Amino acid sequence: LPTRTLDLNDNPLSAPPSLGGWEAALRARYREQSGARPSAGWNEVLETILDHRSVRRFRADPLPAGALETIVAAAQSASSSSNLQAWSVVAVEDPERRARLAALVGGQRHVAEAPLVLVFLADLARLDGAARRRGAPAEGLNYLDSFLVGVVDAALAAQNAVVALESLGLGSCYIGAVRNRPEEVAAELGLPPKVFAVFGLTIGVPDPAAATAVKPRLPPAVVLHRERYQAAESTELSLYDSRLRSFQREQRMREQDWTVQATERVKGPEALSGRHRLRDALAALGFHLR
Ligand SMILES: Cc1cc2nc3c(=O)[nH]c(=O)nc-3n(C[C@H](O)[C@H](O)[C@H](O)COP(=O)(O)O)c2cc1C
Repeated sequence: LPTRTLDLNDNPLSAPPSLGGWEAALRARYREQSGARPSAGWNEVLETILDHRSVRRFRADPLPAGALETIVAAAQSASSSSNLQAWSVVAVEDPERRARLAALVGGQRHVAEAPLVLVFLADLARLDGAARRRGAPAEGLNYLDSFLVGVVDAALAAQNAVVALESLGLGSCYIGAVRNRPEEVAAELGLPPKVFAVFGLTIGVPDPAAATAVKPRLPPAVVLHRERYQAAESTELSLYDSRLRSFQREQRMREQDWTVQATERVKGPEALSGRHRLRDALAALGFHLR
């Protein structure tokens, strides 16, 4: 694995930015003529983040010793709402359990093939238990915001994990499909009431024979609103459709406009892969949310 280190004495804000790396990264991310965009600096952290791509094909090798612990320390370093740390993670390495999880998420092969699958959990059970042991009420856990706190904490932790593992030369892919059949996933992982699997993350050494590329994103002008919100122009979205199509062509993927893909995904309950019944599933998992 490539070892990357940061020179902590080398403050990127005081160093002259190496615009070559920044511009190349922006071109890959947006496929726009970037011109001379200002950069606050360029360093290995930014390089890792801008170079992100999901990896779904892994070498069979196990992860290097200590990788899991490093990834979890990075995840736990994320901020946490009121420091409640209302999240947990289950590390699944057992091939049979990975195969069963793969079946529960619509047969996604990479879940069975990745040497490690992390399942990130919104975990209100730990707080509930702590309150119980003090003989204190924990009524606040029954409000929607507490569930959201757990989900947000889990997501922030997971994305720190992704940046960390990518900095080590590993690859990963989120698996939101663990929410397709939440009760069965909970049973497979032995989750107690008030614990919910938000998403999985397949992790491994990327297979160099199936290298993936940086997937372009919406033009930043669509996402960044200055001072007040401004609805996206349809021309900007059409521009993105054509940029995504060029990516799909290069990757030998089926070509489809983003505006079609994205709107198909939200057209109705039938497009939610089982997640339209999430409210009921949460109640079955011990979340009685007000
Ligand atoms: C919360 C979440 C859930 C996702 N679920 C899945 C999934 O179940 N299967 C999959 O192959 N990719 C999944 N993805 C990966 C996205 O498809 C991917 O991030 C997106 O297409 C952008 O591509 P990139 O990550 O390569 O930039 C998920 C991503 C996120 C953030």
